[in-house]
Amino acid sequence: MPVITCIEDLRQIYQRRAPRMFYDYAESGSWTEQTFRENTTDFAKIRLRQRVAVDMLNRSTRSTMIGEEVAMPVALAPVGLTGMQHADGEILAARAAEAFGVPFTLSTMSICSIEDVAAHTTKPFWFQLYVMKDQDFVSRTLARAKAAGVSALVLTLDLQILGQRHRDLKNGLSAPPKLTLPTMMNLATKWRWGMGMLGTKRRFFGNIVGHAKGVADASSLSSWTAEQFDPQLDWSKVARLKEEWGGKLILKGILDAEDARMAAEVGADAIIVSNHGGRQLDGALSSIRVLPSILDAVGDRVEVHLDGGIRSGQDVLKAVAMGARGTYIGRAFVYGLGALGQAGVTRALEVIHRELDISMALCGERDVHDLGRHNLLVPKDFEGEWH
Ligand SMILES: Cc1cc2nc3c(=O)[nH]c(=O)nc-3n(C[C@H](O)[C@H](O)[C@H](O)COP(=O)(O)O)c2cc1C
Repeated sequence: MPVITCIEDLRQIYQRRAPRMFYDYAESGSWTEQTFRENTTDFAKIRLRQRVAVDMLNRSTRSTMIGEEVAMPVALAPVGLTGMQHADGEILAARAAEAFGVPFTLSTMSICSIEDVAAHTTKPFWFQLYVMKDQDFVSRTLARAKAAGVSALVLTLDLQILGQRHRDLKNGLSAPPKLTLPTMMNLATKWRWGMGMLGTKRRFFGNIVGHAKGVADASSLSSWTAEQFDPQLDWSKVARLKEEWGGKLILKGILDAEDARMAAEVGADAIIVSNHGGRQLDGALSSIRVLPSILDAVGDRVEVHLDGGIRSGQDVLKAVAMGARGTYIGRAFVYGLGALGQAGVTRALEVIHRELDISMALCGERDVHDLGRHNLLVPKDFEGEWH
């Protein structure tokens, strides 16, 4: 294995190995990509307070998210088409997460199905639901998740209509890829990826194909979303889904204090402060910037998690010290997967864990639970005054 010292190393290998269509799909934001960029650049504005001469033996990053024990407060975010970044991608990522002791969240738009991931793991994972117009499909999907032993439902609220990513349109993103001349020329340089794909049967949306009726073109994410996602999803439907699911519920895609209050009202176990990795409303604020206002609104009523822009353990430290109970990584684990398969996801988790652990020590902290605002240097105007 090449010497991997940071998440950026994995990104570079991933870029060389994955077909351009899927690399672009992950490494893009919507429209001008302002929100996508600010998710990471805003983390960099926060600085850490160095402390010295503090006993740093016996450190612990262990914590809990919605009552489940985690080796560090980091979960794998739901990422559609993960099985196109690397053959059997969802299974490999879930296994890496399980071995490391962090939650894995399977996307509705995964390549490997719920049952397939359950068959290849030994502990419960989390399942992310997109709400479709076809209520029967939604009910059957929830029943399948329950039967597979899924321990939490992550309901995504910020993608009932798809934000535009220019490169996906230009590349003709689909799963499996349509063999146009430019795609074939690009695939010819990705033999490792191609060998993996030839060796697996998992090349279609595993939770959809064979489960949803009347799907005109299930290979195209954009046409499927436009045809099937429910544009009428509202808080009453969220409450009904909570009832129907009956288990732990995490509401994903909250970026506003008012919505956070509604989520707490509905009785969610946790919310994820998220702008979908800058892939939906371009021009929205970064997740880390809105976190304080959301904590002020609901921090004592519901667990507050965060995703968007986390590329290091220092970023995890900043989010947790700011008040997030847990964080999620999307692209950071995809880079690892696309670069080196399961070992790459493990490496991504190891890199982040080591960075978190050592930075915590250098901040004078031994236990992740003791992190707080006192560890951070936040510019006065960080949150900004918005009217
Ligand atoms: C390639 C890609 C696909 C994604 N697919 C989904 C999805 O199917 N469901 C979902 O709720 N979020 C999806 N997301 C958003 C992630 O769950 C998460 O919010 C985001 O990746 C966090 O930002 P980060 O990539 O900077 O860590 C996707 C993100 C990426 C990058």
